[in-house]
Amino acid sequence: MLLQSLSALLLLAAFAASLPTQNSFRWSDIEYVYVFGDSYSYVSGTFGLPGFSFIGDATQVAFTPQSLLSSEILPDKTSSGGANWAEYLTGCYEGLPSACPRQLWDFAHGGAVISAKMLPRRRNTTVEVDEQVQQWADYAADILPRTEGKTLAVWWAGINDCTTICKNETITDVDAYIDADLEIYFNVLENAARNKLRTHLIMNVPPIDLSAYLETAPAPCDVKRLRRTISSFNDKLAVRAAKYAKDHPEQLVMTFDAAAVFRNILGQPYKYGFTNSSYFTGQCEDQGSWVWHNDEHPTPRVHRILAMGLEKHLRGHCL
Ligand SMILES: *[C@@H]1O[C@H](CO)[C@@H](O)[C@H](O)[C@H]1NC(C)=O
Ligand SMILES: *[C@@H]1O[C@H](CO)[C@@H](O)[C@H](O)[C@H]1NC(C)=O
Ligand SMILES: *[C@@H]1O[C@H](CO)[C@@H](O)[C@H](O)[C@H]1NC(C)=O
Repeated sequence: MLLQSLSALLLLAAFAASLPTQNSFRWSDIEYVYVFGDSYSYVSGTFGLPGFSFIGDATQVAFTPQSLLSSEILPDKTSSGGANWAEYLTGCYEGLPSACPRQLWDFAHGGAVISAKMLPRRRNTTVEVDEQVQQWADYAADILPRTEGKTLAVWWAGINDCTTICKNETITDVDAYIDADLEIYFNVLENAARNKLRTHLIMNVPPIDLSAYLETAPAPCDVKRLRRTISSFNDKLAVRAAKYAKDHPEQLVMTFDAAAVFRNILGQPYKYGFTNSSYFTGQCEDQGSWVWHNDEHPTPRVHRILAMGLEKHLRGHCL
């Protein structure tokens, strides 16, 4: 019995050794987490645009190594009104990222879409996801650690793309538009990989059609069009991610179904300890028991549940 399991183990070890490096991902080895995305992911920093970014904005993309290394994360200055998933995942809530349990280098920018080549810039300060990666490549990549095996890039984009597409009446062929948008997105991943970020986790778009966003969204955006846009984006994203992984065996591509986490919470808010799944309006009430912090951003509690799910998923990738 013992011998049998021993030889099974050896066999497994031989098999594991022959697998490409992508199967050796271990969350416990990850020390540096890079984040690219939008308001669901940004943290505010001393050298950033308060309420939008950790460092820089579109009118001031460049920064010096010195400001990068001395920019501090400001606590509770995310779109949730408290901490966000990136902070819960890394334990990096404030101060210098380099002093955190896991270093959080967050280039996400509030209001970002994948690229201004596809959709108008929301503000002239907005750094879109393609530009975030270029900004990182130009001013940060050679300054910050990105050791292979210890580094993870997390991508959470497409939320603003879906709402912006939904509102835009000139976009009639939504599927074709999303195809072109995703073509750019995966070119952006290639840009990151050329600059030695080769371990990726990609999250999909949560069901913002279940937030109060639609109460104020202009025509032609309605529940049907928004749902269809998100579902098309997520379906195509999954297909593209699988293709990218196949085409780039030297990189590791993981995906995480963030939408499912939101659907679970919103399907049974009471089970998760939420008492209200409409949005937080009170000043004195405890926002911890609410799902939504405002009409389109979830509360810290939702971010924490998401981070816990994500960490569990990442641990599952350990062989
Ligand atoms: C930013 O946009 C505002 C109006 O939205 C405009 O007045 C201003 O000139 C713009 N700034 C730059 C630097 O383009
Ligand atoms: C709608 O999308 C088109 C095509 O991308 C773009 O040129 C136009 O500026 C958008 N309109 C608005 C109001 O955002
Ligand atoms: C949630 O809050 C909204 C807005 O304050 C209120 O109208 C609604 O009744 C609340 N729902 C529950 C289940 O408490």
